[in-house]
Parts: sequence; structure tokens; C-alpha cells
Amino acid sequence: MNSAVFHLSGPLHLCGKSHFIADEPPLQGQLYAKFLFSPVAHAQISNLDISAAEKIPGVIKIITADSIPGENQIGTVVKDEPLFPETEIMYVGQPIAMVLAENEYLAELAVKKIVLKYKELPAIFDPEEAYKEKQGYIQERIIARGDVETALKNAPFTLSGKTETSGQEHFYLESQRCLAVPMENSRIILHTATQSTMEVQEIASRILGIPVNDVIIEVPRLGGAFGGKERGATIWACMAALGAFLTQKPVLVKLTRDEDMHLTGKRHPFTSLWKVGFDEHGKILAYDILLLANGGAYTDLSIAILERAMFHSENAYYIPNIKIKGFACKTNLPPNTAFRGFGAPQGIFVIENILAKIAEQLKIDPLEIRLQNAYQNGDKTPYGQEISDCRLTDLFNILAEKTNYLALKQAVEVFNKNNTRFKRGIGIIPVKFGISFTTTLLNQGSALVWVYIDGSVSVSTGGVEMGQELSTKVAIVVAKVLGIPVHQIRVESSNSQRIGNASPTAASTGSDINGNAARIAAEKIKMALTECAVKLLKQKHQLNVSPEDIVFKEGKVFYKENPDACVNFEELVRFAHSERVPLAAYGYYKTPALWFDRDKGSGNPFHYFVWGVALAEVEMDTLLGEHKIIKLTVMHENGQTLNEEIDRGQIEGAIMQGIGWCTMEDLKWNEKGVYLSANPSTYKIPGIRNLPEELEIEMIPSATEEASVFGSKGIGEPPLIYGLSVFFALQAAAKEAKKDAELSFPATPESVLQCLDGLYPIG
Ligand code: MTE
Ligand code: HPA
Ligand code: MOS
Repeated sequence: MNSAVFHLSGPLHLCGKSHFIADEPPLQGQLYAKFLFSPVAHAQISNLDISAAEKIPGVIKIITADSIPGENQIGTVVKDEPLFPETEIMYVGQPIAMVLAENEYLAELAVKKIVLKYKELPAIFDPEEAYKEKQGYIQERIIARGDVETALKNAPFTLSGKTETSGQEHFYLESQRCLAVPMENSRIILHTATQSTMEVQEIASRILGIPVNDVIIEVPRLGGAFGGKERGATIWACMAALGAFLTQKPVLVKLTRDEDMHLTGKRHPFTSLWKVGFDEHGKILAYDILLLANGGAYTDLSIAILERAMFHSENAYYIPNIKIKGFACKTNLPPNTAFRGFGAPQGIFVIENILAKIAEQLKIDPLEIRLQNAYQNGDKTPYGQEISDCRLTDLFNILAEKTNYLALKQAVEVFNKNNTRFKRGIGIIPVKFGISFTTTLLNQGSALVWVYIDGSVSVSTGGVEMGQELSTKVAIVVAKVLGIPVHQIRVESSNSQRIGNASPTAASTGSDINGNAARIAAEKIKMALTECAVKLLKQKHQLNVSPEDIVFKEGKVFYKENPDACVNFEELVRFAHSERVPLAAYGYYKTPALWFDRDKGSGNPFHYFVWGVALAEVEMDTLLGEHKIIKLTVMHENGQTLNEEIDRGQIEGAIMQGIGWCTMEDLKWNEKGVYLSANPSTYKIPGIRNLPEELEIEMIPSATEEASVFGSKGIGEPPLIYGLSVFFALQAAAKEAKKDAELSFPATPESVLQCLDGLYPIG
């Protein structure tokens, strides 16, 4: 459809002309913020002395918990997180005080003069330990169906174990930042890099003790977020707001890469304890799992992330008897937070690991065992949502055909027989990803559309542009409704004065929610313009037509039987204005038919599922522990795409982020909770050389009823799961070298060499 339309920001990004927060020269009188960060993971503050620091010339103000005019509280789901701790320090890197100075150098200098005295307390970093101590934010959660105990007892085979996945650094290019500028009266504007304008606005107003309408949020675009700014931006925006409010000067808070990596929360590491029962064909009969999320010091989004992990812990498989328990553990790490996939990758990894084990034990083919257990339409998920648009069997079959699966398996076998140092392996993974915020109330959005006098259009939504190119998708939607070229439409920044109470741009729902709201607004304008077109066509071409027969297409408006007797869009707009017809509209959309009963663990939390399958073939160097990805093949069911190139970009990016998570991104802390891998030299994210040698992505269109705006489907997060196929391919390759090899997560060269211990005896 719109394949000629490309990424609207692309040329700007490529030429370095796109603007980001704090790109501009400093404002008159602007102050710079630097922080005193906690050196310890858990402690009681006994004294905080800022007197020496205050005396440094050029230091304007030092702000601590005592300076806060409103409530010292930035928590949302659970109100447990202070902006600055008053008595108890909870993690290494927690901000304790903020210095505002005329330049960064002076601010740094003053930070060093602050004297913090504290009494250290015992700290917990391990989720299992926290679970034993019942240290969490809320009670254990449960979703269950059938009789797991009996089914486990009667199952021909059982296995049990523990599976761990580690965290992940967001590594957005733009670090956390906010420029706060005081305005007249007590008003303030925050240029903030957040995915969630409503949250920042509300919490900043709470900190300052002023009404929400005195805080204005402006988000032009983000230099990447990946979930790290859904909540992660709030604390820094509140810091800047507080600084500007108290000094009445512009204040810039901007973390360095090193600070950002040290003290912002990451993907939740999970530890899962499980038991599984299955039959001789590899069919899973019973699954009992306890998911422990390492939540860090404060609740943040941990409860919702744990819940999504639980919702995805059966991945794409029907399991008749299932008990999914989950506990979000409170530990002394920075509060872990949203990260692309939002718990789903952690839940999915466990069941995929189990399937690999069952297949190995029963000597069943990895594709066969997945087909054997895959959902069919009419099945119900453990939380009772009916599966109605599943094409997994088809997708697996297409994948087998595309990869020439049987021949590939044979070739790998032959290769492994003829090689000792290099071993190859195949990994296969399906995905069923639920689209909608699992927090039902967040599934709503608004848009404001203006048609200006020359026919150019301005669209505002609550959606935040972060590189996923939501703006292009929204423009495509509006262009389609009004029948005008995409380039005639400008999608504006996300601003609380134009769009209030906006949900975060997250859960891969950005285009569903904001695209639909924009569609609804544009349809209202189109309806008003249609009335005008009837009049104008009569005046100009003496046509007598009814509104239903008017077509808006390619910048022209005409009677469907007579496209030549048309008026152009601008002409129509000028006519409508002269007729005093409103040329703006507000659109509101809420995702239909969502509900979930947390106590019963059942409901319909998702509007639809995204389905797909992936196959990875890898070659491992068992001497060096390194690997290459020979080929990754993906079949992704994608509804009716709004823009194929953007979706392909999202799939490729998500896959690489998934591969990074499970094969190279290794977070290290010391035993005192000090983060040790806080820069790119010690923390390796995928680079160009880590790309699969061949990457084949096929987007399979479908006419799924539940899909959203113009039949399209959310794309931001689901494809991250495909990256996990590389881990399982490596696991298979390792077993070719050493039968009982068990790769730990992530599958770094170090992890590979450890699991192959003894293969190359030294000396
Ligand atoms: N793509 C880019 N380039 N940058 C990002 O920060 N975030 C991801 C995904 N793709 C992200 C991205 C995450 S975590 C989500 S939830 C979705 O985009 C959010 O945008 P959408 O809902 O509009 O797809
Ligand atoms: N995904 C992302 N963010 C969220 C969700 C979700 O399901 N629920 C609340 N915030
Ligand atoms: Mo994405 S983790 O839902 O911001």
C-alpha cells in the first residue's frame, strides 16, 4: 500500500539534523546538575553535611530530601520510592543530593565536598534469598488451571530444575535527561526524555506541590528508550523540575553514559524453579513454575513485568495442567524496569529451555516437539483467553520448507561428524506475544488533528517517537483517511497541553492506540469536509451527489463515478473555512473487550496475539568459545502492515537485541552491589560483526480480525524472542562437543568454555 512512504525521520537522522533534548545551546542563566550517589547498597543515613560544598563560588544551590516542597514520593503502582532518601539508602548509585552550579565542573567539585555519614546494613542481591525472606512488594501471584500435582504424579516422565536469565542494559544512545524551564507564576515546562508524559507530569506536580496543570511536558523525540524511559525518566525529570522550581532558573539534568549505566534499572534478571511432566511423544502434561523477578530496591514496574512473564510462561504451547506462580523480589539493586518484551522473554526462555531438555531426553526433533505442543485455535491460555487467530502449524511448515529443514539437519550432522573443533547447532523458537497493556486502564489514547488553511495537517497524539517511527505510522493513517500525501502531514511532539493523560508509549501498542485515536479524529474532519464537498461539487461542477459517494484520494475529492470533475483538497479546506466549518477534531480510542481478574488469575488481557517462528543455525568454535550465526530465518505473521520497511527495521533491531541479551551482554556486580560493567569496554552489545551471516525475514500478511489500526499489528517487542533461537542453537552445538554441556546465560565465550570444561586439557 504505502511502500513508497519511507521513514519520515530517516533523512534528518542521517544528516544529523534531527533535534534531541539538550542539543541546543544553553539558555540564559542555565544551571547544571550533578549528584552525590550512594557508595553503598544498603545503609542508614546518619549525617549529610553540605556546608563546605555550598561555599564554593558558582554553586547556586544544593538540594536534598529536606528541600522538597511537595511530597518526597515518586512511586506509582506502589508508593515506595522517595526522590531522595531521607533515612534509608537502598542501592549503590542512589542519588542522595543534587548540586546546581553555573557549570558542570563546579558542580562536580561541590559534590566531592559533601560529607555523607552512614551505618551500613545487610544487603540482599539474590532473588532466591529475597524470596526465602519474603522480601517483596506484594504477595505471591498465581495463575493456574487443572490439577498439576496429580498430573505430575501420573506423568510417564518428569524433570525439574532451575533456570536463570540475566539483566540487560538498555543502551539507548541518548542518556537520561531533562531540561526544566521555569515560567511565569509557579508554572514550569519540562523538556523530558520520557515514554510517559502523564506520569512525569503527575509526579513532578506531586514533588513540587503544585497542580498538574502547572506542569507542562514536552517530548520532541527520544534517542532510543527500549522501555528504559517508561518509568526510568521520571526521577531525572523530577530532579530537574525541583531544581528549576527552587532556583527559578533553567536546570539541565543529563547523565553521562557511565552514570546512566551505573545507576539506572535494567531488564529484570529472573530465577525460575520448575517441574514438568510429559509423555513419550514429548507432549507436556503438567507444568509447575515459580518465577522470581529480581526487582531491585523499589517496586517500579516490577509487578506488571512479573505478570507479563507469567502470561508468557507457556509461550506458544497448550499445557493442560499448569500452575504459574510469581514473586517480585525486593533487592538492593537499582530498581529494575521495563525492557523490550517486559518480562515475556524471561518467561518464554524457561519453557523453551525445558522443551530442549525434553527433546534431548526423548531424542525427538526440536521442530517436531514444538509442533506437538503448539496451540491450536479453540485452545485456551492458562488465564482463560481463547486462542482464535493462531497459524503456528502453518508457520512451522513454511519455516521447514524455507530452510529445507531435513536437508539442513543432515548437513549439520555430517559437519559435526567431520569436525572436532567447530560444531554446528540448530535452534528453533516460536512466539505468541500478547498485545495490550496488561494494566487494562492504560489501553486508551487521544489525538488532536488540525487541518490548516493550505490543506497541510498537524497531528498530535500522546505517543512518543523513540526511533520506532510511530510518527510515520500515524501520518500514514491520517493520510489514508483524508486521501492526501503523507508528506502533507506533520506529526508533532508529544505535549501535555495538546494531549493530556497519555498512557506511556509502550507494550508495542503505540500505533494501535495513537494510530486509532488519530484515525478517529481524522474521520470526524473528513465527515465535516464531505458535507462541504457535496456543496462545492454542486457549485463547481453542477453535480448532485450524496455524501456516501464522495471519494478522498491523492489530494483530490470527487464523486466516485466521475473522478475528473474534482476539487482539490486545499480548495475544499478553504471553502470549508469560509463556510465556518471546524477544521479540527479530537479523537479518543480505547482498546475493546479487555479485562482481567487478578484474584482469579483469569480474563482477556490481550486484544490479540502476534505469532511467528524462527530458526537459527550457528557454528561454535569450541577452542575459543566464540561463534558465528550462519543463518537466521524468521516467519513473522504481521496482519496488514502499515509500512513494511519500518516493520522490517523493528524486527531486525529486536532480533539483535534478543541475541545480545542471551549471547553477550554480561552484567557484573561485585559482592557489595557495585556495578562493574558500566561502559562499552566491559559491556558488549551486538555490533555489525555479530549480525547473522544470512538473515531471512519473511513477513506473512494476514487478515486477522482482532488486529488493530487498518488491520496492522504491534511490532516493537515480539520479534526480540526470535533472538533466543541463537541461544538454543549454541546449546545444541555445545552438546555436540560434550554430551552433558549446559550453557549458562548469557552464552558468552566464557560461558561456552566453562560448559565445555575439560575438552582441551591443559598440558
Ligand atoms: N525501536 C527503537 N528504534 N527505539 C526504541 O526505543 N522501543 C521498543 C520498540 N522499538 C524502541 C523501538 C519498545 S520497548 C516498545 S514497547 C515499542 O518500540 C514502543 O513503540 P510502539 O508501541 O510504537 O511500537
Ligand atoms: N507493557 C509495557 N508497559 C506496561 C505494561 C505492559 O504490559 N503494563 C504496564 N506498563
Ligand atoms: Mo516497551 S518495554 O513496553 O517500553
